[in-house]
Amino acid sequence: MNSLISLKNISKTFLNDKKIPVLKKINYSFLRGKVYSLMGPSGSGKSTLLNILSMIDKPSKGLLLIDNKEINFSNTSINDKIRSKKIGIVYQQNNLLPDFTALENVYLSSLALNDNKNKSIEKAKIIINKMGLSSREGHYPSELSGGEMQRIAIARALVNEPDILLADEPTGSLDQSTAKEVFKVLRNLKTKNRLIIYATHNRFFANMADCKLEMIDGNIKTIHGRIK
Ligand SMILES: Nc1ncnc2c1ncn2[C@@H]1O[C@H](COP(=O)(O)OP(=O)(O)OP(=O)(O)O)[C@@H](O)[C@H]1O
Ligand SMILES: [Mg+2]
Repeated sequence: MNSLISLKNISKTFLNDKKIPVLKKINYSFLRGKVYSLMGPSGSGKSTLLNILSMIDKPSKGLLLIDNKEINFSNTSINDKIRSKKIGIVYQQNNLLPDFTALENVYLSSLALNDNKNKSIEKAKIIINKMGLSSREGHYPSELSGGEMQRIAIARALVNEPDILLADEPTGSLDQSTAKEVFKVLRNLKTKNRLIIYATHNRFFANMADCKLEMIDGNIKTIHGRIK
């Protein structure tokens, strides 16, 4: 099996004044070349799971393997490198840098990985063009529509050609028809080497995945899978 991310007995409990167990001994393998949707009620742990997969947060227990290599959650500098090289992340709020143009937002992400400015700009332009937004390159986020901002955020997540794309309710703040457009873009990013996982509350968008997952009682249940 060509698994790109594996979870072994992953648990996450938040400790505030009382314990909040969110993820409970999850065992699951996400395969390369597949698209997964993740549904589940608000508070069921979708974002918590995605934050662990992106190594932004660490599990309370269990192992995370990326490319069959165990992640050491205390080694943040190595994990930062793995993240910038292999993982693209899109959030509900696109969090583009407000004082930078669309092009700058995308190319800065590329520059963080290789410090060749001209090459970074060239790569950013290509990916923005793929998103159909060449004419908006010089616009600041405040001069873009919600859907355009989100497509620029996707371009930024993709500029380093990550094998893993994680999206947490990427169209949660968009109207239905703009959301559909953005999802079409997202779904078309499937390649044979890439793993895409997105959390959504929308059944229609969830159905666009190869495999539909749901967070239930702190665990991942397969609702529908076309994956062999
Ligand atoms: N930093 C934190 N400290 C304490 N509790 C937290 C923290 N982050 C999340 N939680 C709790 O963990 C649970 C899961 O939250 P999470 O954000 O993963 O849910 P979700 O499935 O993404 O929900 P939504 O659909 O609303 O985005 C919630 O009960 C939440 O209150
Ligand atoms: Mg969430």
